[in-house]
Amino acid sequence: MKKTFERREPRSQKTKGDGPRRERRDERLPEKPARIEKPAKAARPDAATAPAAEMRPLIRRSGELPAERVPVILESQGAGDFHLIDSGQGLKLEQYGPYRIVRPEAQALWQPSLAPQVWEGADAVFTGDTDEDGMGRWRFPKAALGETWPLSLLDIDFLGRFTAFRHVGVFPEQIVHWSWVKAQAERAGRPIRVLNLFGYTGVASLVAAAAGAEVTHVDASKKAIGWARENQALSRLERAPIRWICEDAMKFILREERRGSRYDIILADPPKFGRGPNGEVFHLFEQLPLMLDVCREILSPNAIGLVLTAYSIRASFYSIHELMRETMRGAGGAVESGELVIREAGLDGRGHGRALSTSLFSRWVRA
Ligand SMILES: C[S@@+](CC[C@H](N)C(=O)[O-])C[C@H]1O[C@@H](n2cnc3c(N)ncnc32)[C@H](O)[C@@H]1O
Repeated sequence: MKKTFERREPRSQKTKGDGPRRERRDERLPEKPARIEKPAKAARPDAATAPAAEMRPLIRRSGELPAERVPVILESQGAGDFHLIDSGQGLKLEQYGPYRIVRPEAQALWQPSLAPQVWEGADAVFTGDTDEDGMGRWRFPKAALGETWPLSLLDIDFLGRFTAFRHVGVFPEQIVHWSWVKAQAERAGRPIRVLNLFGYTGVASLVAAAAGAEVTHVDASKKAIGWARENQALSRLERAPIRWICEDAMKFILREERRGSRYDIILADPPKFGRGPNGEVFHLFEQLPLMLDVCREILSPNAIGLVLTAYSIRASFYSIHELMRETMRGAGGAVESGELVIREAGLDGRGHGRALSTSLFSRWVRA
């Protein structure tokens, strides 16, 4: 990716104005149940050389920085059919509807709280110890289970699913974002436009649609979109205005930018590495700056939010924080944890620039 910074001319009034664009916008929203949109089939390039979406330079931004609120810890305590039961020794024990499931969790450095018998009573354990697809990587200690089972979160019905990548068809920690989107959509008093990038099995799209939003859901995997459509039917939202788009997310947003499309809320949950349907390569650390840059351009003038989730961090400060607290049990005092950051100070050493995160820390203090 070319990492040059260029000043771009402001968009012409014609593409920024609300009139003509709104007409085009509404045309694209489905009146009938949505079908999966797939762009014209391009020849699949050699995977090794497959270009990412056509890039553009980053826009040089000016003006005041937004205010900041840090650190903010968004905490999920479970909802609907999900809660985290216990964690420890590199594993987590979760409740998904009727099933107790054990999956790897690198952040869980401490010991489990519950007795081994509780863990041993799990219905499904991700082993990952074979190279088979799907169910082959799961062990079902009590009884063989089907590949899917019904779940409900925030009044959305969908299928849990034992996948080959240890996922279960939903990332329940995202409930905090979904509740936020739901509240915004309900509060708006108009059908807001929500773009869900890397939308996976569509729970966020369904939550937004159920709250009255017009949703565009983008994912590179036809299979994932198929699952999302299944979830749409389960949630009885077949007639909700959702566009299902099977495309590379970068390619999609760059095209939306050229078209002058606008969204009130954009949700982006990119993987560290992914591929578009035509082999387009997505590397989080290389493409994130441009992805956010383009997302900013396709936010509507009265946009409500741009929500990014990044799972590529190897550890969070909570990992060492909880370990420290467990270690110092009974010692009194307090444990303070967070990140160590270095503030940019400019050439003269007096500036107050951006915060550069260097590491996590956790400290126990007597008082
Ligand atoms: C929700 S993201 C993964 C984020 C997740 N929380 C994790 O563990 O990293 C996964 C989804 O992104 C989709 N995906 C991967 N690469 C993509 C791309 N280039 N464009 C659009 N969707 C992509 C996958 O098909 C999948 O459904």
